[in-house]
This record gives sequence, C-alpha cells and structure tokens, in this order.
Amino acid sequence: MIQHFRFGSPIRTDSVVQDIPVSSDAVPFLTADADGWVYTMVPDAIVYGLGEMPRGINKRGWHYVANNTDESHHGENKVSYYGAHNFLLIDGGPGGDLFGVFVDFPGKVHYDIGYTVHDTLRFATEEPDYELYILTGADLNDIAHQFRQLIGRSYIPPKWAFGLQQSRWGYKTAEDVREVARQYKENDLPLDMICMDIDYMQDYADFTINKERFPDLAALAAELKAQGIRLVPIIDAGVRIDPEEPTCTEGLEKGYFCKKEDGTPFVAAVWPGKAYFADFLRPEVRAWFGHRYKVLTDCGIEGFWNDMNEPALFYSPDRLKAFLDSMHELRGQDNIVQEEFFARVVGGAMGLMNAPEDYASFYHEVNGQRVRHDKVHNLYGGSMTRAAGEAFADLRPGKRTLLYSRSSIIGSHRYGGIWLGDNHSSWEQLLANIQMMPNVQMCGFLYSGADLCGFANDTTPDLALRWLEFGLFTPLMRNHAAGGTRPQEYYRFADQLPAIRSMLRLRYALLPYLYSTFMQAALEGTSYFRPLGFDFPADPDAREVQDQLLLGDGVMVAPVYTQNASGRHVYLPEPMKLYRIRSVDDCDTELLPAGHHYIRCALNEVLLFIRPGHVVPVAKPASCTAQLDEADLTLWACPDENGKAGCRMYSDDGETSDYAAPEHWKVLELK
Ligand code: NOJ
Repeated sequence: MIQHFRFGSPIRTDSVVQDIPVSSDAVPFLTADADGWVYTMVPDAIVYGLGEMPRGINKRGWHYVANNTDESHHGENKVSYYGAHNFLLIDGGPGGDLFGVFVDFPGKVHYDIGYTVHDTLRFATEEPDYELYILTGADLNDIAHQFRQLIGRSYIPPKWAFGLQQSRWGYKTAEDVREVARQYKENDLPLDMICMDIDYMQDYADFTINKERFPDLAALAAELKAQGIRLVPIIDAGVRIDPEEPTCTEGLEKGYFCKKEDGTPFVAAVWPGKAYFADFLRPEVRAWFGHRYKVLTDCGIEGFWNDMNEPALFYSPDRLKAFLDSMHELRGQDNIVQEEFFARVVGGAMGLMNAPEDYASFYHEVNGQRVRHDKVHNLYGGSMTRAAGEAFADLRPGKRTLLYSRSSIIGSHRYGGIWLGDNHSSWEQLLANIQMMPNVQMCGFLYSGADLCGFANDTTPDLALRWLEFGLFTPLMRNHAAGGTRPQEYYRFADQLPAIRSMLRLRYALLPYLYSTFMQAALEGTSYFRPLGFDFPADPDAREVQDQLLLGDGVMVAPVYTQNASGRHVYLPEPMKLYRIRSVDDCDTELLPAGHHYIRCALNEVLLFIRPGHVVPVAKPASCTAQLDEADLTLWACPDENGKAGCRMYSDDGETSDYAAPEHWKVLELK
C-alpha cells in the first residue's frame, strides 16, 4: 500500500507516475517535531536506500544531504554526491516495522540516520512544501517493487550498452580513438564502445566537433561501427558563450537560459570558460536542447553521456573578481599569517567552486513562476537527461539510444542511466561501488555502474583486475580515467592480460543471464542487485552482510575487494553451488552448505554462487555484443532437492523499443 501526504504547495517534480490521492490520515511510523520527521529505530533496524551516497548498504550511522554535488573527492566523510535519491526502506527485523519513505522534493533534504543519536532517524526538507509517500507491504522486495511502480519504468538502453565501454579523459584525436580500437582487437579483448570526453568538441562547446582533430566524425563512427564499436560522446550542461555558436545564439535569442534577478542570463565558468545554462525545467527548453543532439545523431552517434549537470560551476565572474581583488590586496606580501592564508587564500580559491551563493543567484521558470535555482537544484541534472531522452524518441523513433548522466533525481531514471562519478583508484572505492549498487538500483537507476579501475589517481594491475571482477556484473561496465593518471585501458596491464581477457570474455558469456535479469527488472519492476536481507529477512547473519549481493533470481556475487587477498569470507544463507571461475571454460564447482565459509579466490578468479533451482545460461564469449551467439548456450546450474533447475531467458533485437512482446521470453530447464 502507498499512502500519499502533501505539505504546503509543492513544486511538481514528475518523479512519480502514479496518481495516488492525498491522504488526510496521520502519517504512520513517523512523528513530527520542530526539526522535521523522527523515527525511533530498534537496535537491529536496517535502513536501505538513498541511492548514490557514501557508506555501507545499511545507511545507519551517518548523516546525508540530498544536494546534487560535483564531488571530486569521494569518501565516507562525504554527505552528498551527484544524485538526489530520496527513498528509504526501513527494516525493523522480524516482527518489527517495515516501510518505505519517499520524500518528493526538488531542494535539499537532510537525513540524520543514527548519526546524532544512534537509534534516531530524522529527516527534513529545506522548505515546507513537499510530497511524502509511505509504502508498506509484505516484505522488502514487495515494497521495493511497489516503489518502482510508483516512479515508473526504468530506462532501457540498447543491448550493445551491456558490452564494455573504454573511456579516458584524454583521447584527443580520431587517431587516439582508432588506437584504442586497434589495441583492443590486437589483444583479443572484447569491446563495444569508446567514449569521447570533452576533447572532441571545439573549445568545449556542446554540439560542436573539432574538425582538425576529428575531421570526419560520421566516417569515424561508421568505421568503428563496422568493427562492432560505438562512439559515445559527452555533452556538458554549460553552453559555451560564443557568438559564433548556434546553441549559444539560439538559446539567447529564445530566452532559454537561466536568468539572474535582473533578467540577464546567468553566467558561470566550466570547461569552456564562461557558459550559460539552459533552463531544463521548461518543457520548450528541454525540447530545444534535446533536439540539438541531432548534430551528433546525424553523424551516426547512438549514445551519449551527460556531464557536469549538477550543474557544476567553477566560478561566477562576480565572485572571481571579488576573490582576485582580495588577492590583489595581498600583493607584495611574503608572509601571510596562517589563518589568513587558509581562510582567505586557500578557502577563497576553493570557495569559488559550486558556491551556494551562486546557486542562489539565478532563476528558473516553472509553470510561468520564477523559482530560485537552489530551491529546485536537484531537478537540474535529471531534467537535462529528460531533455535528451524525450528528444531521442523523436530523433530516433522506435530505436533505443544509450544515455547516462552524472547528476540525477528519481524520475530521471525513466530517461537514462547514471555512472557514479569521479571515484578514485582505491580498494575502498571498489567496496563503495559494490555497496552503492543495490541502493542506486532500488531508486530506479538500473543502468548504472562506476568508473572501473577508478577515475582519479593511479590504478594498479591487481586493483584493475579485482574491480573488473565485480564490474563484469554491473549493467554499465565502463573503464574511465582522468587525464594525467596512469593509463588504464585493459590492454595496458601486460602481466594481468590473460586474466583480464578471461574476465571480459566472461562478461560477454554471462550476458544472456545479465541482460535477462536487467530486462526483467526493468519490465517487471523487480531487482537486479539487491542486499541479502531482502530475500532472507529472518536470518540475522544475512541481514548484516554488506559486501555480497544477490543478482537477479538465481545468483549471488561475493567480490574480493581487498589488496593482496587470495580469498574472502562469504556467508551463504542457503546451500549454493559455487562456480570458481578462471575463464568460461575453466571453473571448478562445489556445492556448499549454508553458513559461514572462507573461500579461496586467487587474483585471476571470480566467485559466482548459483542458488538452488536456478540456471545461468552461458554463451560462447564474443568480441562484441553483435557477435554473441545465444543459440549455443551452456547451462550452469544448481539443481534443487528434486534435481530441477530453470530460468527465464529474455532475448530481443536489442535495438528497438519493442521490449514487451511475450515471445521475448523463454524458459530454460535443466534436462
Ligand atoms: C567530470 C566527469 O565526471 C569526468 O568523468 C570527465 O572525465 C570530466 N568531467 C571531463 O569531462
């Protein structure tokens, strides 16, 4: 059951798709005080949700702010990342309360989940106008399912988007891109996509192509597509101020950019220098901006990533001037007292970026009303995704277009996926990736994944391999790195190359299972990844597990995420069949009883557990998704006590929007 409460006069977010009458009953489970809503948690209550946030699968013990942020230093001391995913699922354990909470609000929401007082959960919106939904149901899976019905079907990418994406901020020319494709081929590594970061643009202006470095993008896209590789260019939120550039001039002419109080367009610097910001909250602006992607779809481009759309602001001209004036006053000094150095010099420079004062200095038009940006901040990035998603339906009718975004809000999961932003190459961030996935997907973002190997800092061959051994299970599988870091394309790691090749091939071989699980999750509102506690709510040990995930109906994964480990502790809530996989053709298997185990897992191995009664259909490895032969399947299985095992397998053309036909499903059974 879903109860809907309304407070004040909320701004419409379009996060939900079901029209649930507003209730006049008292809000169950929660009590209100002067600081917001309060709930007292029993000692072993677990709080799931909040999507893209730091800390464990269980969010208890920390505080968080839904405030979409360009956060370049990920870590457990952070309180906000790029997405606003205001859904919580509270599991009080056997006999305890069980309910979901969705705070439908476009501004900041503060959560204190046992941070101040261990048993007290508090949350509050920054304004008194919001919608609140309370969900109850038979169990965690049921409530999660109801929530997904409430917010509408998750975005479905083309099937090739489940292949590997290779990316790096630093592919500067068509030749750089060709070289990546060549190296993948020469090293016999499968690949489906190469991402193009901002260097393909002319002066970092959206919807432009640098003709010197990419003389014929359409020809390049066609050449690579013939090899099974798609180009995936980036689009940034900030529109370069350039009187020669149609996105800039048209947007200005039509009055489509966000404005300051005096009615002039708001300006802030991002990669292209000074930029304008389209008012994506207006439907006509979304339609206009979305149709600008045609410049690239006309070149045969079929996929995009939307970046910097919190929006990230490096500085506004006014604040930069004030800072430089202040520095000017210090000219000639060679001994600034420590306090002044940190507060005025360091703090002044750092404070230029993503400044709250800047977010409070421009406006949107929402249904003809002027609304200050900071009040609807969390809607911005998702509305950019929506702009693109809505336009693709028109630009590429009947076809699926790959789209994923950095910033998001629940609701934008219907238009695109997300990647988890600028993580860094560390073991801790690999664990963070594992822990974030089920919460992000619970909030609708099924097509999601982190930058494998890590974005910032130098990766290491063992971290690259271990991260791939988890990443091969994530729907969005992309290796991406910041410029200046150690090169980390998978062919760079000579000593680990055979193992990396095996793991990439394993990903492709597992696609019949992974794609079927994804399509089932999208079409039926079920889960792809979920915590163990969802299926074993009465098992206290299962509920505590923070580093293993159930994947669809039939699989559990337990990735190794610590340096130099050659095994790990795994908890089995039921007997399962372990596949210890070195490659598709080289695994050993073992039927393991329920309970605690220490399981060996060498650097070149991955652990896959199949649940009783289930089958994992395995294809022959392929060099790209187009080469995948799903007719020739091997069935990995864990028969139940009657010797039976089966699964439902989904297959379609992977390109058109004709997902729903029942003939896409077939049942596979162990004979
Ligand atoms: C920030 C993004 O998060 C990152 O992935 C990208 O490489 C840089 N912007 C440059 O475009």
